[in-house]
Amino acid sequence: MTDITVPQGKIIERILSMELVRVTERAAVAAARLRGHGNEKAADQAAVDAMRRELNRLPIEGTVVIGEGERDEAPMLFIGEKVGAGGPRVDIAVDPLEGTTLCAKDMPGSIAVMAMAESGTLLAAPDVYMQKIAIGPGYPKGVVHLDARPEDNIRNLARAKGVDPSEITALVLDRPRHADLIAAIRSTGAAVRLISDGDVAGVIYTANPDETGIDIYMGIGAAPEGVLAAGALRCIGGQMQGRLILDTEEKRERARGMGVTDPDRVYDMEDLASGDVIVAATGVTDGALLRGVRFGKNVIETETIVYRSVTGTVRRIIAEHRDLSKFQLEG
Ligand code: FBP
Repeated sequence: MTDITVPQGKIIERILSMELVRVTERAAVAAARLRGHGNEKAADQAAVDAMRRELNRLPIEGTVVIGEGERDEAPMLFIGEKVGAGGPRVDIAVDPLEGTTLCAKDMPGSIAVMAMAESGTLLAAPDVYMQKIAIGPGYPKGVVHLDARPEDNIRNLARAKGVDPSEITALVLDRPRHADLIAAIRSTGAAVRLISDGDVAGVIYTANPDETGIDIYMGIGAAPEGVLAAGALRCIGGQMQGRLILDTEEKRERARGMGVTDPDRVYDMEDLASGDVIVAATGVTDGALLRGVRFGKNVIETETIVYRSVTGTVRRIIAEHRDLSKFQLEG
């Protein structure tokens, strides 16, 4: 057990930033070995195994609040699982392979991602869908809202940005359920960029519209990804809202069991991730956010981005790993 004598809080967080990088690097490398093999489950499992192994080496007493599922459906990194070798109490949110299909098809944008936060500050969300909206920094609070019509959100955002709606681009997951949403956005003259998967990165893109061309993320994706994205956006600035889609009694019951008292609640970014948080993501396949893993003859290269809420620092870490033994499969 690691002896941690520094007080819990900011100092611990800084010490742990680099540790998180190792965790997502290992998960990304494990998944990347299975890029393009058409086997989503195997790639996900490899990432889960690697991530769990590394998490259990960290000097933390972590509780998984966002994981691979609820206990009976996920043997590893299930919600409620304790991870770490001992240390400060923290919440852990993981998506060892975000974009399993992207990885299985070797398409752009799959990442290994996790967040660590002060204990009790990440929303413990069940694995259901979440309606989400997100924009980058620099706008008045409330300029967009989940309860507003999509057309109004686009027009309000355009006005706040000082541009015509035709200069706004919204990012939306390419799903039949979004047909009406897409039509509503386009009716304003705004553009819609569709992605096949990966809305953690989708939300993060809004933080840097000059580079990504994305002003707003809208639509329904998975709730765990929503919490991870909120954690990252909190570090860099922006606004996000999410509402769990609890459309059956069974889902409402599960959510109640996790402390959700109001099934219709609109969560602000600060409710989804309320405390100090660090988020790390490593590219598995190449993408706009991160380069994927490169396997050389005697070296493995990874690119990781780390967000830290206390300071708003964003670090990009390009690593060349030469001790390849640490990436060998272990039992
Ligand atoms: P997985 O990595 O679990 O496959 O998730 C990928 C993803 O695209 C998420 O980014 C997104 O939130 C969710 O799936 C959307 O769910 P669905 O594919 O059911 O529409």
